[in-house]
Amino acid sequence: MSKLIYTGLNAGKGTSFKVVGGDGVYFHLEDGRKVLDGSNTGGPLGHRHPDMVEAVRKAAENPIINEGWFWKEREQAAEDVIDIAFAEEKDWVGGVRFFLSGGEANDLAMSLAQSITGRTPLATRVRAYHGMSGMSQHLTVQPQWHGGLAVQNGESRPVPVTIPVRQIPEPLGAKYGALSDNRPLSERLEGIEDTLSDTACTILDYTQGGIYYDSEYQDRVARAAKKAGSLWIADEVVTGTGRVGRMFAFQGGETRPDIVTLGKGLAGGSSPVGAVVLSKALVDMMEDKSWQTYSTFRGHSLTVSCIRAYLQVLKRDNLVARVKHLEGIMERRLIEIAQKHPSVARVDGNGLHWTVELHGPDWRTWENNTGEVPIASRVSNRALEAGALIGTSGEQISLFLAPSFIISEEELEGILSALDYGLELADQEYAG
Ligand SMILES: Cc1ncc(COP(=O)(O)O)c(C=O)c1O
Repeated sequence: MSKLIYTGLNAGKGTSFKVVGGDGVYFHLEDGRKVLDGSNTGGPLGHRHPDMVEAVRKAAENPIINEGWFWKEREQAAEDVIDIAFAEEKDWVGGVRFFLSGGEANDLAMSLAQSITGRTPLATRVRAYHGMSGMSQHLTVQPQWHGGLAVQNGESRPVPVTIPVRQIPEPLGAKYGALSDNRPLSERLEGIEDTLSDTACTILDYTQGGIYYDSEYQDRVARAAKKAGSLWIADEVVTGTGRVGRMFAFQGGETRPDIVTLGKGLAGGSSPVGAVVLSKALVDMMEDKSWQTYSTFRGHSLTVSCIRAYLQVLKRDNLVARVKHLEGIMERRLIEIAQKHPSVARVDGNGLHWTVELHGPDWRTWENNTGEVPIASRVSNRALEAGALIGTSGEQISLFLAPSFIISEEELEGILSALDYGLELADQEYAG
């Protein structure tokens, strides 16, 4: 038995595969198979991308230097984030600080908001995921990700929540499938200013729980947060730097956040990374202040080297436009697949991040505390037989697709066909 303590994204004990390597858009498995990597938000350039391999090599020659010392190359990485990623947001962007993960970036962005506003409560939307450490974990309101122990006899031992967490209604978009609530957004969001009125910040992500939002939702919530004196944090850990077919998801709306958090793909997948990006207004406000937080390995020399290399590749190879192009194929094919499979309840997504939700038990009651392998994980196992590794979102009824930006149309079709094959299993159970 493995000595590694781990929690799988696909629920249920034991995995049906063991990864031993990766190359391009493929994972290599221990049994000799090469399978398409269908759900990897941390790997926008796939595996062993030559520019990233070179960046990691070069990083070995960098100094070993903690967050508290000035290091020229780290300064340059911050400039790159601003010049390349925030090129269209020059009037908004103020400054960047690097972190170790998306969850850490969110945690620290929220504590900064508490310090600025003098308020303790925090707000997010229903079904959100913001990370699994510190306050990020408390703002991850999906019931199965409570951070504690899920006992397989139906018992849960969640970690006690130590701060007040407010939840506002989620948007209910779907490119395919029925909506559970047809009331107009204005009605659904009525009263949120009151909900936000004592909160330090309102943190919103753009994908988790299979929830993808449009400009109307963003702009309504942003305006309500502003009126309520709640800072708006755009959690772009998944969506930042291209995943949704534009540099940032927030660019779909008219409003601009106070803080943007980044992670996942920002270092091309070759180093752990997180970042907090502050608006000009916040940076100006901080001119005579020091943000009293520190961690040894933030902005590590490996991270810095990888961020710089990744942003160069993103720009040189025009990858954001490529994601936008592939979005059209994803949407068309996923709707075709959904129409063919009665077990599919809902499909939604943007760019190269899509969720397929199945008919089945309510996600609100799922805590991963049974020994059963849930339906989404079983569909995933069957898709693997057809040559693609497709992840679940940790919920029992949802699968998500997030291939790398360098995937070819043919390889993308390989992932979609494997999903199509996997869903036959869900159809049989749905019919039965
Ligand atoms: C929207 C969002 N925010 C934050 C995080 C946390 O990032 P990390 O896993 O790097 O801590 C995730 C992780 O899936 C995420 O999806």
